Amino acid sequence: MAVDHTKRVLVTAGASGIGRAMAEAFAAEGARVWVTDVDQAALASVDPQWKSSLTDASSEPEMTDLFAQIAAEWGGLDVLCANAGVSGPTALIEDVSLESWRQCVAVNLEGAFIAAKLAAPLMKAQRSGSMIFTSSTAGLYGYPSRSPYAAAKWAIIGLMKTVAMELGPFGIRANAICPGSVEGPRMERVLAKEALLKGTTRDAIYHGYASGTSMRTFVEAKDIAAMAVFMASDGARYLSGQAIAVDGHTENPDPKV
Ligand SMILES: NC(=O)c1ccc[n+]([C@@H]2O[C@H](COP(=O)([O-])OP(=O)(O)OC[C@H]3O[C@@H](n4cnc5c(N)ncnc54)[C@H](O)[C@@H]3O)[C@@H](O)[C@H]2O)c1
Repeated sequence: MAVDHTKRVLVTAGASGIGRAMAEAFAAEGARVWVTDVDQAALASVDPQWKSSLTDASSEPEMTDLFAQIAAEWGGLDVLCANAGVSGPTALIEDVSLESWRQCVAVNLEGAFIAAKLAAPLMKAQRSGSMIFTSSTAGLYGYPSRSPYAAAKWAIIGLMKTVAMELGPFGIRANAICPGSVEGPRMERVLAKEALLKGTTRDAIYHGYASGTSMRTFVEAKDIAAMAVFMASDGARYLSGQAIAVDGHTENPDPKV
């Protein structure tokens, strides 16, 4: 029987947004794709050729079941896109509840930890693999009114760098992508909340974010997906331990709007 050498790619939170764009980009390269999400309707809308699971990235039991299925059906994993994340509360530090902090950290950071922990043995056994963590420019700068999110996205970079060191001897690479503001429904929700907090308009906040970059721009999900495909490619075979921003170059992370 011929061995199928196509890449086996898992994308958490892959039913919409950036994760979906990643899954589409890997599938377009001929990869086998498995997406997870907590939104059943969104999962129902993905390409039926993909594998898909209703799995909360922050739940260790659910993720453990998922990895057992991956091991059984695929026998390994070549690319992990630990992408799940929620924006968390938009509030000044004194108004952030511990519960909302924990919820934000649970999906963004603990989700990345759980995925890396479960992917490591599979990748070590095959002595190859690429882990790609979705951080954020919020993981490179402070982010007023988004302290849980910024803290979690910084911590993901610490996790990624440590994983790169632990797994490098096994031929496994780990990198992080730091997207800037991505056009789409999630940023629209962020813009609306921040406009409310600051007593201004969505357009003023949008312009503030865009004007804080050298290229005066938001980016698109496909730009993040293209970086993920590159990070997993042979062209990036010695790229490890890096956090790379795809953001039009952030000059001023907090333009005062
Ligand atoms: N959109 C941006 O501007 C932006 C910028 C920087 C970083 N990011 C990061 O990129 C990643 C993807 O963001 P997005 O804009 O596609 O998000 P999104 O809000 O559009 O959500 C994408 C998907 O994540 C799913 N999801 C939410 N919680 C989940 C969980 N616990 N387990 C599994 N799936 C879950 C949702 O159901 C949704 O289908 C996140 O880590 C986010 O923090 C986004």
